[in-house]
Amino acid sequence: MIWLIGAKGMLGTHVARLLTEKDLFWTGSGSEVDISNPAAVENFITSTETNYYLSSHKKFSNPKERKINWIINCAAYTAVDNAENDEEKARAVNTTGALNLARAARNHGAKLIHISTDYVFDGTSKVPYTEADKKNPTGVYGRTKSDGEDAICSSMSQYYILRTAWLYGFYGKNFVYTMTKLFNSKDEIRVVEDQFGTPTYCGDLASAILMIIEKSEKATSVFGKNSAPAYGIYHFTNEGQTSWLDFAKKIYAIGKKCGRVTKDCTITGCTTAEYGAKAPRPAYSVLSKEKIQKELRIKIPDWEQSLKEFMSDKRFEIQ
Ligand SMILES: NC(=O)c1ccc[n+]([C@@H]2O[C@H](COP(=O)([O-])OP(=O)(O)OC[C@H]3O[C@@H](n4cnc5c(N)ncnc54)[C@H](OP(=O)(O)O)[C@@H]3O)[C@@H](O)[C@H]2O)c1
Repeated sequence: MIWLIGAKGMLGTHVARLLTEKDLFWTGSGSEVDISNPAAVENFITSTETNYYLSSHKKFSNPKERKINWIINCAAYTAVDNAENDEEKARAVNTTGALNLARAARNHGAKLIHISTDYVFDGTSKVPYTEADKKNPTGVYGRTKSDGEDAICSSMSQYYILRTAWLYGFYGKNFVYTMTKLFNSKDEIRVVEDQFGTPTYCGDLASAILMIIEKSEKATSVFGKNSAPAYGIYHFTNEGQTSWLDFAKKIYAIGKKCGRVTKDCTITGCTTAEYGAKAPRPAYSVLSKEKIQKELRIKIPDWEQSLKEFMSDKRFEIQ
């Protein structure tokens, strides 16, 4: 069975929907199963409770069916600016939580899919970051996530760490919803023009997560346990790159076309320094997807195409 952690978060909700659509056997939890507490993790993984919250519609006829063989960790302390004043809390979830899950997965023979971030890099590169590039996080959030990755790598071997960036999805606050709301309420807004990265639709990342599980399960059942896609760190974002300013302009243009933006708004650029966020952010965090494309042979949609589909979808509901 699959244990989805952070099942009610922005990405987690997308993954939960897909697991149910694909009729996979899964259970989910949020912060009521506190991953920073090793006893809570152990308790959940060994519980024989057969009707846990958010579980799929399938019911266990036998508690043994509850054996967890995959853990997907979408939980994190994600408030990047607050983390600067709250390192202890950010570390508890992002580092200790990751360590606890890695140890539990190893001890109980489960594989771990863990989500990480472009913030592990300092953003000084001029070309897309590969998985082999040296990490150098500049803020508390990035440091705690980077330490979480290291904790996993040194505790177990059967893990997939997926670094992603600039996420948006239907279920939670995100840049697309925020911009759309601002366009509909303000005459002029300013957006950062000197940070570059790739917007990523949670639905595309959720599909990649499920593809890893499916490929791994298929390969191991047909060819044995050493034939799963190679464990390790992978990058996954949509294709292409842009700045926050041009991302905002694209949201505006698409929003006008599909009726999400109903009035005129002027969008102007400002620098990171002018914007003055509390936490430092990488100026350039485009991630190379070569490794995951080669290993999983997946086609990754371009960010503009995914954004168009997202904004035209009936699930689009600003939060
Ligand atoms: N958002 C982005 O732009 C972005 C970019 C790059 C990477 N990422 C990474 O992508 C992943 C998903 O991000 P997201 O934006 O979907 O996150 P999110 O919406 O903030 O959701 C995070 C979830 O973590 C759960 N959580 C927090 N503390 C917990 C704890 N101690 N124990 C168990 N669960 C806990 C929360 O559960 P409750 O709802 O029950 O409180 C929440 O639903 C994270 O690893 C994040 O670092 C995000």
